[in-house]
Amino acid sequence: MRDVAIIGVGITKFGELWDKSFRNLISEAGTKAILDAGIEGKDIDALYVGSMSPGRFVGQEHIGALVADCSGLDTLHIPATRIEGACASGGMALRQAYISVASGINDIVVVGGVEKMTDVVGGEATNILAMAADQEWEAFFGVTFPGLYAMIARRHMYEYGTTREQMAEVAVKNHENGLLNPNAHFHRKITVEDVLNSPKVADPLTLLDCSPISDGAAALILAPLDEARKYTDKIVKIIGSGQASDSLALHGREDICTLRATVEASKQAYKQAGIEPKDVDVAEVHDCFTIAEILAIEDLGFVKKGEGGKAVEEGMTRLDGEIPVNPSGGLKAKGHPVGATGIAQAAEIVLQLRGEAGKRQVKDAEIGLTHNIGGSGASCVVHIMEVI
Ligand code: COA
Repeated sequence: MRDVAIIGVGITKFGELWDKSFRNLISEAGTKAILDAGIEGKDIDALYVGSMSPGRFVGQEHIGALVADCSGLDTLHIPATRIEGACASGGMALRQAYISVASGINDIVVVGGVEKMTDVVGGEATNILAMAADQEWEAFFGVTFPGLYAMIARRHMYEYGTTREQMAEVAVKNHENGLLNPNAHFHRKITVEDVLNSPKVADPLTLLDCSPISDGAAALILAPLDEARKYTDKIVKIIGSGQASDSLALHGREDICTLRATVEASKQAYKQAGIEPKDVDVAEVHDCFTIAEILAIEDLGFVKKGEGGKAVEEGMTRLDGEIPVNPSGGLKAKGHPVGATGIAQAAEIVLQLRGEAGKRQVKDAEIGLTHNIGGSGASCVVHIMEVI
């Protein structure tokens, strides 16, 4: 297996982007990544793109070919493949791109993620997202993702004494970080009281515990490590990649307070990287709801099970904390255009490791981790990267 580097990143603004279409978004992200890497169209061997539900959100399928076409790569006839894994579509696309370069099949690969979610009304977006839950056991009975994560939150509160205030602290921190990210969906400071008093979505979760419905895209350029310097000096190596699955419905799990897919995917990634959780300097984790960030820091091994709420409350995951989590603002404030999220997380970690994250730069970051979840945890992809 060859070593693989990320040599370029591109990201669009995230938010409710009325003036940009699905294809505008992915071409903008792809073009930025290509310029960042210093490659040309003729260098590209393959293209992968993560997108969850473009057929329902914008009426467009056959996304691989569309993206090659709208990026001007159609005349090169390169393989262009769309990957779907609910909200983990982006992370899975990155893993497939990584495997294709590591295997020696491809050299330069573009991997993107995109979703345009705001062209449908809010309730319809909720229904489309719920298609990634178990239709027969969950969605048919009216449970949506806020509902599923609310059940997890209640159980976590019961088992470990996690409080509403601790969950709210996740949103407060991520909105604070989002203020420092020009591409974030929200630039708005909030307080714990704001979170507790915002409209109830699914008890105990309120509006400000939830990630939003967003539009956006992100892209990366991958290359074999030993060829990377031909193009750029800004090289970040992928040192670990893991992916795992779990039962689609919550009731199939032994313990709904532990996302086994996260535990297993991170175990693979840590083993390949030869590091332990304590070696990670910065992480972008899947905070689709505030409780999800608490689960993530526990299941990734940053803290013991049950201690996530306390760790957040004590500031461990703040920009200047022991392990800064979601410096980009996370899904909560940066936004969550589902197919784009896994790629955007990797783009943030690359910027952090290159020392190019501006006001949200984590000091001396050398090793970074991304954690991308599909649905309520039935899929998980973890990547670990190191600057060289
Ligand atoms: N966080 C902060 N503010 C939010 C927000 C969020 N998640 N969602 C909406 N807002 C703001 C809007 O900007 C708007 O503000 P304004 O009045 O100042 O313009 C206001 O709240 C109302 O927005 P609206 O679009 O009407 O909200 P909504 O009630 O239709 O949707 C949620 C709110 C929480 C239901 C929606 O964001 C949601 O479904 N989130 C979860 C997404 C999800 O499940 N993703 C998959 C995870 S697995």
